[in-house]
Order: sequence, then structure tokens, then C-alpha cells
Amino acid sequence: MVVRRSPILTNTHQRYATTLTTRADRQTTVIPSEARNVSYLGVFPPSSQSDKRQFGSSPSRNLLYGIYMLTKPENPVVNERDSSTLLTRAAELAARYVNSASERAVAPKETAVAALQRFHEPFPDSGCDPEKVLAFLDELGSPATVATTGGRYFGFVNGGTLPTSLAANWLAGAWDQNAALRVMSPVAAELEEIAIRWVCEALGLPPDSAGGLVTGATMANFTSLAAARSALLAREGWNVVEDGLFHAPPIEVVAGVEVHASLLKALSLLGLGRKRLNLVEVDEQGRMRADKLPKLSRNTIVCIQAGNVNTGAFDPASQICEAAHQQGAWVHVDGAFGLWAGVSPQYRHLLNGFEKADSWATDAHKWPNVSYDCGVAIVRDAEALRTCMELSSAAYLTPGAKREPMYYTPECSRRARAVELWAALKSLGRPGMAELVERTCAHARRFAAGLRAAGCRVLNDVVINQVLVSFGDSSKTQDVIRSVQEEGTCWCGGTVWQGKTAMRISVSSWATTDDDVDRSLEAILRAARIIEAASN
Ligand SMILES: Cc1ncc(COP(=O)(O)O)c(C=O)c1O
Repeated sequence: MVVRRSPILTNTHQRYATTLTTRADRQTTVIPSEARNVSYLGVFPPSSQSDKRQFGSSPSRNLLYGIYMLTKPENPVVNERDSSTLLTRAAELAARYVNSASERAVAPKETAVAALQRFHEPFPDSGCDPEKVLAFLDELGSPATVATTGGRYFGFVNGGTLPTSLAANWLAGAWDQNAALRVMSPVAAELEEIAIRWVCEALGLPPDSAGGLVTGATMANFTSLAAARSALLAREGWNVVEDGLFHAPPIEVVAGVEVHASLLKALSLLGLGRKRLNLVEVDEQGRMRADKLPKLSRNTIVCIQAGNVNTGAFDPASQICEAAHQQGAWVHVDGAFGLWAGVSPQYRHLLNGFEKADSWATDAHKWPNVSYDCGVAIVRDAEALRTCMELSSAAYLTPGAKREPMYYTPECSRRARAVELWAALKSLGRPGMAELVERTCAHARRFAAGLRAAGCRVLNDVVINQVLVSFGDSSKTQDVIRSVQEEGTCWCGGTVWQGKTAMRISVSSWATTDDDVDRSLEAILRAARIIEAASN
């Protein structure tokens, strides 16, 4: 359809300030010249008497009428041509960002953070051209990001984003699929099923386990533990889905002292409480002491870790699973990043015994470098997960014959995060994923060796991709961390490990090179020397 501007407002246009006619025979829409921005609402033949009076009723003249919303000149133009211009521009800006992420300071400059104030304005009374919105977002937003994708970000356990994953994310954004039900998005449902199966294959987990994709390991812990809770209570004849927890038989939860804070949050959301947790002693690497396990029963959930967030250490899964299963207890694994070590022949031994557990939680946005956000919950007993995530009947939400994504996660409507996960796994395959794990572990060892050689104290056994380093007392270490973050070559966070303040170096990005490690080491040691000199 051709859109043509008319310098003249017809009577109809004047009388109907928000509607315009379309002559289907000419395939031309005449719109008044001052109406720079219009959105098309639909086409109709005049039907009511008043429409006929206003527009005439002459099917013989082959007239059809389109209704257009005339908006103020500042409002957005929404049509196909403009959205492709906009998307092309977005891709250009994004590519520019991606290409510059490695060279800019990792932490944003103070001026860039301060400029975010410019976002604060009252809710706009008028719209804004989408290209201006995009330009504004790039101008203020891009410099105020933390360059986590650039290769020298070692904070928390934040992965970068693989180019394939980012590209798939863009396409999936354009699809805008709701991954709740297969009928809403066959492609999302299919890729989710495949991605979960591949994750099980990659990590050596039972192939007929059920799983769901969620926002991250916190929700993956929540989802798996919900399945554990309902399965254990069902064995006692209690239906927690229907009857809730009041007066239910008690469930005991056991975890190591080094349990991740997010697991505690999951327990609290599930009504299992943080304080009721039975904490077990750990060793100097943070591994749960299997010989210190309390008395377990068929009403116990034992939470173990594959990869301590600070040291990267693995709990002794074989011993714990054996002891727990002898008593009928459920074993849940928080393997937010560590589980992925299992994809590498070099590191697989660290995962011995973890496959014997009953449920697992992991993140694809950490070590596998899938774009945010993507967590994976996996439960051996598929029925246990389905029972507690099933929706009570809603006539318009009937499941089909095949797997329905929303029957395996807490949410209904959700984005199709399987797309990026599938793309990352497909592009890397087993060898690529193993190489990513092995390369980042090698970088961690390179860091540790460089730090030790310079006289710094590495506090952990560097078993995978995590390094903890102390630069002396707590205040010196904190000063070094602050100074490194401000200087901007790299970014490392801090922690307290068994009473000692430490810098955490987590090598979790595919983009990190040997050169990134060397430049970062130099920056860290330079900061340490300056702090040391200042303290003397
Ligand atoms: C062991 C462990 N569990 C859970 C989490 C929480 O993950 P998320 O932030 O993706 O929910 C983390 C995050 O670092 C972690 O290391």
C-alpha cells in the first residue's frame, strides 16, 4: 500500500480527526500533511448508518476504508520500512559496542554513571521517534555498562556472551515468542526440549530426567527443591500442591556451611525456612565433610555443591549420595557453574558421583557463556517436577500431547531462552564446550602462578576457574581491589574466605585471552605494589 500525503484536509478528515479513508482501488492512502505519524488500525467496509453517512456506501466504487490513528507529530512512525531501518541501526550500534568492549575500561567511568541521571524525567506527555530513543539509549546506556563481555571481567561468576548466542538472542527477540505453551511457540517448545536433553548429555546426567529453563541458578534451585519437597511429602501421603505446608510432616534440609546464599533464598521461598537448615562442617576448601553428616531420613533433602562460588571446590558427592540414599533422602546439587566441568575429559573426574543425585541446578549464563538470562533445573523423577509445576485447570490453557514448557517451570509466560542455549550448544558442541572450560581453567592457573611468583598468597587450590588471592591484611586487600576496579584494565570483586579478605578472580568468559590475563595480572600487581608502598 502506498502512503501519500495530501496538503488538503478533506471534510471527512476534519470531521474525523482520528480516522482516514483508504481507497482500495487506488491502493493509496491519503493522509493529511500535518499527520506525520500514523498507525494503521485496520480496514473495514462502512457498515453502520453513520459510517455510510460519513464515508459514503458505494461498494460499486470499490471503496474500502482504513482507520488510521493520527497522532501528534512527535509520535513514533510504526511501519515495516521504518522498523527495518531501526533494527539495522540497532545492529550497527550493537556491533560497535561489541567491538569496543575489549578496549574500553571495564568499569564505567564515573561521568558515565552520573549521566544516567538524564534518564530521569516525568513520564513523557508525547512520544519520541524510535531512532531518537535508540540513540539516547546508546549515548547514555552503553558507556554506563560494565564491560563483562570484553575478556577482562573476572567478577562474581558472570560469563560473557558467545557471538552465536548473542545473534540467536537477536533473532529470538524479533520472534518475540512466548515459550509457555507449544501452541504459542512450536519452535521454543522444541528447542527447549532439545537443549535440556543436550545439557543432560553434556553434564552426564540421567537422560530421562525432566528439566525446565528459568532465569538463573537461584530459580533452578527453587524449581528443583520444589520438586524435592512435593516428592518427599507425597511419600508421606501429603499433597503439598493442594494442601500447602501447614500441618505437613516436617522436612529437614541439610547443606554445607558454604551453601550459596541463593539456595537459602530458594528454601525461604519454598516455606522451608533458612534457619531450619542443618549446616554441616566443611574443610579448608569449602567442601562438605561427608563424615560430619547428621542423621538422615526419608524426609531429608541434602543440598550439595558442584563448584564453591569462591574456591570452585566440589563436595564429595559419591559418599554423600550413598549415605543419603541409604536412608531414602533426596540429594540436590547446586552446580551453578561447576557442573559444566563435567563436559571436559580433563575435569570430568571432579564430577564423580554427582550424577547419582536426584536433582540439579545450573546456569547457562555463567560458564557456557549463553546470553543472560538462562538457568536450568533438572530433576531425575520427571513426574515429581511435573506434579508440582502443573497448572490447575484453566479452560483456555489446555496442554497438547507433547511436552509443554510451562508444566516444568514456575512461570507461565516467559521468553524463549532455549533459543540462545540451543545455539551455544550447537555452535560449540562437546569439543568446543570442553575447550572453553579447559581454556578458562588454564587462565585461572596462569593468574595463580603470576600472583604467587610476585609473592601474593593464593588462598585456594585452583581446581577449576576460581582464584582467591590475599594482598596482606584485610584493609590492604580491600584497597587493592578498589584500586584495580577504579583503574579499569580489569575488574575483580572481593570476598571473605574463612575469615580472610580476598580478591576473587573468576575466569568465566570465552573472550579472555592469554594477553588479557597478562595485562590484568600487571594491573593487579601494579596496584598491589602502590598500596604496599603507601602503607610503609
Ligand atoms: C554456587 C552458586 N549457586 C547459585 C548461584 C546463583 O546464580 P544466579 O545468580 O544465576 O541465580 C551462584 C551465583 O554465582 C552460584 O555460584
